Order: sequence, then C-alpha cells, then structure tokens
Amino acid sequence: MAKLDANVFITRRIPQPGIDMVTEAVSRVDVNPHDRVLTREELLEGVRGRDAVLCLLTDAIDGEVLDAAKGCKIFANYAVGYNNIDVEAATARGVAVSNTPGVLTDATADLTWTLLMSAARRIVEGDQFTRAGKFHGWSPMLFLGGDISGRTLGIIGAGRIGTAVALRSRGFRMRVLYHDKMQNEALEQAVGAERVSLDTLLNQSDFVSVHVNLDDTTRHLIGARELGLMKPTAYLINSSRGPVIDEVALVEALKGGEIAGAGLDVFEDEPALKPGLAELPNVVIPPHLGSATIGTRTKMATLAARNLVSMLRGEQPPNIVNPEVL
Ligand code: GLV
Ligand code: GLV
Repeated sequence: MAKLDANVFITRRIPQPGIDMVTEAVSRVDVNPHDRVLTREELLEGVRGRDAVLCLLTDAIDGEVLDAAKGCKIFANYAVGYNNIDVEAATARGVAVSNTPGVLTDATADLTWTLLMSAARRIVEGDQFTRAGKFHGWSPMLFLGGDISGRTLGIIGAGRIGTAVALRSRGFRMRVLYHDKMQNEALEQAVGAERVSLDTLLNQSDFVSVHVNLDDTTRHLIGARELGLMKPTAYLINSSRGPVIDEVALVEALKGGEIAGAGLDVFEDEPALKPGLAELPNVVIPPHLGSATIGTRTKMATLAARNLVSMLRGEQPPNIVNPEVL
C-alpha cells in the first residue's frame, strides 16, 4: 500500500513492531528521542502540526494539548486505561481517542496474582531477609503469612481483567464475591461467583482486588471507611489505577493493623508514594508492571499503531473510545 501523506508523533519509544507499523504506513514519523516522559513544553511542541499522536498513560492529554495539536485526528493511547486523556475535551474537538483493551488482560491478571501471593506469603520481606544474610536455618515462626487456598476473593469491577483474575482462583478453590454495576453471568457460572454490595464484599473477603476504571465515580472508592470494613487478616490488591485508593488512609490502615497487607502496582501520585508507604514491611510495591511482558507490550504497540493507522486511512479504528466523533 502507498504511504499516506501524514505526520505522526510517538511520545516515547515503544516496542519496535508498533513503530515499524506506523513507519511503513505514513510518510513522516517522529519518536521522542529521550527515554523519559516528555516535559509539558516538549509535549505541547511535539504534538503541533501532527495528523495523529501515539501517546502513553504518563502523558496528560487535556484541552491545552488538544488545542496545540489542532488538526490531529486521533490520540492513540498505549494502554487500556485512558484516564490520562480528557475524552470529553477530545470529543468536543472531534478528535478520536483509542486504547488497547484485551491484549493485556492475561498479563495484568497474572501480575495481580503475583501481588496477591507475594503479599500473603511475604515473599519480598523474606527475600530481603535472605539477601541480608539473616537466614540462619528453618524456623517454625519465620514469616508466617495468610492462607490463600479455600479463602474468599472479592473482585471490585468484574470487567475483562477482574474476570480473568477471578477465573484464576479455580486452582485455589476459592469462594468468589464480586461487586459491579452489571451482573456477570459468565463469571457466576464459571466459579459460582456471587454479586454483592461493596460493603458486603469488603466485610467478607480475605483478598480484595480492585479492577475498575479510574473516573470521577471511582476516585477514592476505597478510603478509611472501606478499609475499616475489611477484616484485620485481609489483603488489598490494586493493579488498576492508584487514585482508586486513598493511599494516605491505606498507610494508616496498614500501620494500625486494620488490614494485614497490600499489593499495589499503581499509586495515587505515581510515580511518587505517599509518606510512609515504602517503609511498611507489609506492602508489595512493584513499579506499575501490570502489562510488562515482552509479548504483551509488543501486542499493545501494534494495537495502538493499528488504531492510529486505521484512523488516518479513514477506516474505523478497532478500539475507539469515543465513536461519536466518527
Ligand atoms: C496499563 O496500566 C494500562 O492501562 O494499559
Ligand atoms: C479492562 O480492560 C477491564 O475491562 O477490566
């Protein structure tokens, strides 16, 4: 196919197959030359005069950026979550927004289980202990954690990722509760999951795992009151978006023994942590690695590229978030 006469900006280097797909399709592509998030000024400058932009969850795409990108047809986000983009502002300007759902569901569900098991079985604490030369032999009371098999898993947000996390519990013979606006019959049939209110879920679960999109209705969904409803032996797991949890309240709850521990892949002021969080022994805090496998990031790159190129060709992008602009 002949190259489209179009000018594309990619806000940061992503896996090469995604960059290649765009480069093969359009006449001009510029990639952020630095291996870091662009400054606000660089972003505003970088998007100017472009026909399409491939952006990341670390880029705040608001009205000002959209205005700087006047004439741009699409912001193709390299993520399933798109809370970094003011979609309403994009729609008002007739700009399409796309995301990368589906391809990262398994990787993120796997990572969620890694968080859950590492927190419950104190793997990070134990690893640090061994490396520090403190392991002087098996001991009956060394790093006792929480049971997983046969316990109750509470899923908040039973969409693609929440469902994939719940389905993985079959091997552990867990009771599954979920809280969602919608009934998820497939999940109910597959694992006997029971749809309950948020308070019931918090009250009864040994593991509470959060899988909602971040928006105005889910910001601080889990705060001091909700943490207070959890069992003192329960763990809170978050692989969605940091601001869904009131992180200051969580630090207090962990310090006060209101809950047993937490596994967090995302943070309220990411990449900054709220004071005290990193000093707590009972949290596992990887640096937002949910989708970070070679295979998944490559699929995200080619899916974001496909969304972008489709839009430029006048075709419907497969994962458009605001189809009303088409
Ligand atoms: C990652 O956090 C994503 O939303 O894809
Ligand atoms: C995200 O894509 C979800 O539906 O959980």
